[in-house]
Amino acid sequence: MLNKHQYLTPREIVKELDKYIIGQKNAKRNVAIALRNRWRRMSVPTEMKKEIIPNNILMIGATGVGKTEIARRLANLADAPFSKVEASKFTEVGYVGRDVESMVRDLVEQAVNLVKTSKQEEVKEKAALLVEDLILDALIPPIRSGQSAAISSEDTEMPQNDAELNERTRERFREKIRSGELDHRKIEINIRKPVNPGVGMIGGGMMDESSMINLQEMIGNMMPKKNKKRKVTIQEAKRILQEEEAAKLIDMDEVKDEAIHKAENTGIIFIDEIDKIAGGSGKQSGPDVSREGVQRDLLPVVEGTAVNTKYGVIKTDHILFIAAGAFHVSKPSDLIPELQGRFPIRVELENLTKDDFYHILKEPKNALTKQYEALFNAEEVSLDFQDEALHEIAEIAFKVNSEVENIGARRLHTVMSHLLNELLFDMPDVLAPNAQVVITRELVSERLDELVKTKDLSEYIL
Ligand SMILES: Nc1ncnc2c1ncn2[C@@H]1O[C@H](COP(=O)(O)OP(=O)(O)O)[C@@H](O)[C@H]1O
Ligand SMILES: [Mg+2]
Repeated sequence: MLNKHQYLTPREIVKELDKYIIGQKNAKRNVAIALRNRWRRMSVPTEMKKEIIPNNILMIGATGVGKTEIARRLANLADAPFSKVEASKFTEVGYVGRDVESMVRDLVEQAVNLVKTSKQEEVKEKAALLVEDLILDALIPPIRSGQSAAISSEDTEMPQNDAELNERTRERFREKIRSGELDHRKIEINIRKPVNPGVGMIGGGMMDESSMINLQEMIGNMMPKKNKKRKVTIQEAKRILQEEEAAKLIDMDEVKDEAIHKAENTGIIFIDEIDKIAGGSGKQSGPDVSREGVQRDLLPVVEGTAVNTKYGVIKTDHILFIAAGAFHVSKPSDLIPELQGRFPIRVELENLTKDDFYHILKEPKNALTKQYEALFNAEEVSLDFQDEALHEIAEIAFKVNSEVENIGARRLHTVMSHLLNELLFDMPDVLAPNAQVVITRELVSERLDELVKTKDLSEYIL
């Protein structure tokens, strides 16, 4: 049940996060503790286990400093189901209170996907054998056993009877199928296709999401599954049949139970823009009331309640909630006290410096420079950034952030895309395979200086 990542110590968790996120040491340490506490809780005797609540975290920091990234990478590390929701969407017109529960349903959906994927992995080889049989049946139909028995009883000494010949041919072809030699040959296969009920609109706005889903599933199950014959290449057949055969080998009830359990005990829900539902103190105008209403709706979910999903009932008591917001206008203390109490750990994320930008460009496993190098490599063009050029890009991003609008590390994306735009267009027609591109400081200045100087231009382009 616990996979190896969940055994990571807080120090190891921070080390893993360091591979993707620059700085923000305090936030990393606290999410690491929260994650490890989860595992610690699992090893506690049952009585006490129920008492220990997750250390929900409130991340406070400007946009683009790594809040979402930290939460997402953490979930990934823990192989934990993760869902993300913007709190402000619940203040939009037309939302009913119950809808806050949709974040829990999303989480369960993610959990089901995770469990299904891992089960599919478990039955992969077994399913692959069955798929080979099906493809063989289409290529060389087997001789029915009754037939072959009759033949073999008459001339037992003959090794070359039809059944054996057939079997041997099949084995030869099995090799060919496995090696991919026949991938382009076409065969006819049966595909089971549920008939699309197409009744998504039943009930219109009158029903909430969960009953809508249930109804749809119910109708889907009532509909006959239609067998459809299709001519496809063996390569395609492998893919389609693998999915079908794997599905047949997996017990969906088991998947549902495991998914609920996984979501209950390891799920992480990220609630973004929580500051947008914190009412400014004193004012009792319309929107403030609705914001407080959303907080009241949110409270039971965070405190622990049972939510109905199409996979079963899930208790939210031990889900880890990570809330995030800039809190430029409102303060955490503007949240209703009950909700404040449910987010006992506060971490402030630092604004990123010019130097941080430089490291962000260069070091994370998924660093932008690495992403672009990979894109260029796809055209067999090499791309290198000189160190000075990276400093220059960082400088420009920082400057535009302070002069136009601070969008944090997101600015690096727009700057880089503008810098490389022309080169990306020129490949491979003008900039042919085997070309080598070196990004120098001069090139960066040449492409970007004009834009940075003109505020109007940078507002639109960078
Ligand atoms: N400290 C950081 N280290 C590395 N990349 C970062 C950092 N902060 C932000 N980024 C990058 O900037 C983008 C936006 O970050 P995100 O975490 O979504 O910001 P927010 O704080 O608004 O949630 C992501 O692509 C992320 O990779
Ligand atoms: Mg974010």
